[in-house]
Amino acid sequence: MSRTTLSRYLIEKQREKNLLPADLRLLIEVVARACKHIAVTIGKGGLGDALGEAGSENVQGEAQKKLDVISNDILLDANEWGGHLAAMASEEMDLPRLIPNRYPHGEYLLMFDPLDGSSNIDVNVSIGTIFSVLKCPEGADLSSETAAEAAFLQPGTAQVAAGYAIYGPTTLLVLTVGDGVASFTLDREIGSFVLTQENIQIPEDTKEFAINMSNQRHWEPPVQRYVAELLQGKEGPRGKDFNMRWVASMVADVHRILTRGGIFMYPLDAKTRDKGGKLRLMYEANPMAWLVEQAGGAASTGRQRILDLQPEKLHQRVPVILGSRNEVAVVVAYHAS
Ligand code: AHG
Ligand code: MN
Ligand code: MN
Repeated sequence: MSRTTLSRYLIEKQREKNLLPADLRLLIEVVARACKHIAVTIGKGGLGDALGEAGSENVQGEAQKKLDVISNDILLDANEWGGHLAAMASEEMDLPRLIPNRYPHGEYLLMFDPLDGSSNIDVNVSIGTIFSVLKCPEGADLSSETAAEAAFLQPGTAQVAAGYAIYGPTTLLVLTVGDGVASFTLDREIGSFVLTQENIQIPEDTKEFAINMSNQRHWEPPVQRYVAELLQGKEGPRGKDFNMRWVASMVADVHRILTRGGIFMYPLDAKTRDKGGKLRLMYEANPMAWLVEQAGGAASTGRQRILDLQPEKLHQRVPVILGSRNEVAVVVAYHAS
């Protein structure tokens, strides 16, 4: 059996469809290599020195775990020297990171959530890395880290690549370059990502929802109504029983939805209203929304398609409702009425 590695998949996309400039292919391969490095670090668990608190806070005021910091450093180190990037931005860094002058500069902007699901690190539950790639606008001001922020403020529709690695029982890389969604499994013995699923499609309907129920009393009326109806099951207006899952790693919850359908919600609530929501537009919402749409699903804030949002700042937060198309449509309709 001949196997398609990530490299071969990308080269063929470049050749056949002219979808992928060589520099973007290099970028994706470098991110994939960094994810392998992160997977190995995570895999050592308590045998290494990567568990526990870092003793610091990120720009969002969240306590950093050691693995948040280590994963961020791995991605920065891997990407700064290859000549494919203009700048990088991360959930864990206040300002964008410019490419040092000693290295060549490229035309792409890379954004990442280096370690998603931090609260699951120490309990050995699936976690991940999420990334998103934009083209750097021509003439963008990259003279300082502060000035560089403006270059990143592009809507999700402008993404040229997005994906995530999930570190679970197996390590997978799930990717879109705007031509459907493909999934690659890490062959640990060979050390390469191998194509294991192409053209992933999310079922339009579902009987499974994901939301942090502990926030129920803070939700807005449309989400209250929607979830109340799901909980009434067969006897309620939906006429069927729904099951619930909440991993609390967005990567794992979205991966389940790409695999068998479902709806994921981190809606606006009274607790996060001042910040605009919980999840981050540039590092979480946009890449996941694009993957979900590329797989036939939908992604909305409840009021607007996520990919159409014009970002106002790098660390912007937004409500996220995504997954099986028909379910997302119900939540959006409840927001409209
Ligand atoms: P991160 O670990 O990158 O900060 O992201 C955590 C996010 C997301 O992965 C998950 O869906 C959500 O936070 C979980 O939030 P709760 O702990 O409020 O359920
Ligand atoms: Mn995250
Ligand atoms: Mn994170």
